[in-house]
Amino acid sequence: MRILSIETSCDETSAAVVEKIDSNNGVEVLSNVIATSLDIHATTGGIIPENAAREQVKFIIPVIKKALELSTKDSNKNAQRIFTDDIDAIAVTYGPGLIGSLLIGVETAKTLSLSFNKPIMPVNHLLAHLFANFIKTEKNNTIPQLPFIGLIVSGGHTDLLYFKSLTDFKWLGGTRDDAAGEALDKIGRLLNLSYPAGPEIEQRANKFIKDKKNTPTSLFHSPMIGSKDFDFSFSGLKAEVARFVEKNPEISEELKNEICYSVQKAVIDVLVKKTIRAAKVYKTNTIILGGGVSANQTLLEKLKKQAEKDLSNPNIFSPERKYSTDNAAMIGAYALIDYKPIEWKKITSNPELYFD
Ligand code: KG4
Ligand code: ZN
Repeated sequence: MRILSIETSCDETSAAVVEKIDSNNGVEVLSNVIATSLDIHATTGGIIPENAAREQVKFIIPVIKKALELSTKDSNKNAQRIFTDDIDAIAVTYGPGLIGSLLIGVETAKTLSLSFNKPIMPVNHLLAHLFANFIKTEKNNTIPQLPFIGLIVSGGHTDLLYFKSLTDFKWLGGTRDDAAGEALDKIGRLLNLSYPAGPEIEQRANKFIKDKKNTPTSLFHSPMIGSKDFDFSFSGLKAEVARFVEKNPEISEELKNEICYSVQKAVIDVLVKKTIRAAKVYKTNTIILGGGVSANQTLLEKLKKQAEKDLSNPNIFSPERKYSTDNAAMIGAYALIDYKPIEWKKITSNPELYFD
């Protein structure tokens, strides 16, 4: 089965063609095209929803066309022929996200479904972040085995879930205020880092740690690390950094790197501790990560290291970088793994969508 998938929940416009041949196997990505309006948001230090929606309108048709063209080696076929001949169904993100951005993808997908009489399936963006781990890549050709713990860490969300089956899952906890990525981005603004700040924080943290023999302690507290629940809170960390910056108006590059290291450590320590505890409580040795912050290699390394200590034969999965941040391939992967098309009329964008 071959699916055209569309993702427009925030500032990325993405379309992909994905395929699954064998039900025991992972998902093959034939094309995954991403256009981003990040440059525009970098100038404002954050996303202005109306600007993001306006850019989605510009990109959506060329991105879909390109994804279709790249999905085949047959250069005689144009995008429309590829769509009619080769595509079995459409999948589209219907939430959560920015309403203006979501609408562009959803209404385009519904129009394609109606006009070309193709089945269509709405996909939850959050769950899709985890299902990016079912994409086959050169490095990754095994798929996670159930049951598993899923940690979603993105710019908008931080959630811990337990999956008994692919469709039977339990939400264990999440952030009470800012998401992990959101906190990193807001702290980035305090330090005049590039937007989004996650990658620069990671680079600067690596620079700071490079020649150190032992792991230095963090300048800041790891929030809620001692609480017995599976919840998180990152707004206090942002406030702690703001106070530190206020007290230290002259911040050298070296101190900036130390702040980045400390922030990253504070965030990662609590993510690792609660994720491993969830695996222990729910008696599984498989953990899957998803969302933009899961592109952070230190998070992955620390989680692996701790899992080696606390779990027997742990299996930790994290998507390849290009599938951790927003992309349409993960939307298609979810649709292929739990294929449930519905009537196009019944699909509406839902910016507040969470876990049903
Ligand atoms: O999943 P995503 O692309 O968008 C949402 O659905 O929110 O996540 C974006 C977030 C941003 O907050 C960004 O700073 C963070 O992912 N991020 C990282 C890294 N790369 C992106 N955070 C830490 N380390 C990274 N390497
Ligand atoms: Zn996302």
